[in-house]
Amino acid sequence: MAHPVRKAVFPVAGLGTRFLPATKAMPKEMLTVVDKPLIQYAIEEAAAAGIEEFILVTGRGKQALEDHFDRAPELEGVLETRGKSDALASIRDYIPADGAVKYVRQPTALGLGHAIWCARHLIGDEPFAILSPDDMVIGGAPCMKQLVEAHEETGGNVVAVMDVPREETSRYGILDTPNAEDRLAIIEGLVEKPAPEDAPSTLSVIGRYVLLPEVFSHLDRHETGAGGEIQLTDAMAHMIGKAPFHGLRFEGTRFDCGTKEGWLAANLSQAMLRPDMRAGAEAAIAAAQSIREN
Ligand code: G1P
Repeated sequence: MAHPVRKAVFPVAGLGTRFLPATKAMPKEMLTVVDKPLIQYAIEEAAAAGIEEFILVTGRGKQALEDHFDRAPELEGVLETRGKSDALASIRDYIPADGAVKYVRQPTALGLGHAIWCARHLIGDEPFAILSPDDMVIGGAPCMKQLVEAHEETGGNVVAVMDVPREETSRYGILDTPNAEDRLAIIEGLVEKPAPEDAPSTLSVIGRYVLLPEVFSHLDRHETGAGGEIQLTDAMAHMIGKAPFHGLRFEGTRFDCGTKEGWLAANLSQAMLRPDMRAGAEAAIAAAQSIREN
């Protein structure tokens, strides 16, 4: 049986330049979808997959992330006195057990591969998950749960994949696979951000991974790749052929909350799924439509 996946890494050191000025003094992972920050969705998704240790790779100016996963005695006291039990639960219930959230800094922005490498001492020698809070998956079973279950089925490395339009391959890690249509695509090659004409397929990796710890021995080499960055995709490519490696076509819709359009769509979709928000979301869309028409 495959080793259980107990630990997850959340790369959250990014500057969020695409959301300036909103992210000048606030981490982009604190952007809200309806009423919860992106990082909270990612942590809750990991917890729903059985993850017990949450490792945030942070950087300067990310203090709000630590505060969000800490208790807030003053605020809790006020809510308690006012009898606001729902609000109180909403700021307490998502916090993992004491000591379960850990922080490590990525001192220099050298790429996603380097960010993950910074967590190596906290992972040790076991398979682990990676969740990028920018990528939000709505609908279906929690995406990481689907990935962990696929890992239990196949062993080895498993990444979440989806089809993208060919003109967008240069934004993603792209698979070379003999069975792109299947639920579990066998990975024979991985290329980071290929031009559309060079892409071996249109099946792309999104920010959900279950990887073997061997990835660190490849990241140790600090090889730079696309964009002059240390790429996770390149380190993963070195593992192909040494252990099973699959791309899971997950159930659900992925929103790229690293872009304004994706973030807006995630907000509307999430609101539509919430009984308390659906009517408000429909009214907002109707109001926006009438502004456009007038
Ligand atoms: C990263 C990875 C890329 C992956 C993407 C998914 O790129 O390097 O392989 O497809 O996340 O969101 P980034 O979005 O950080 O440029």
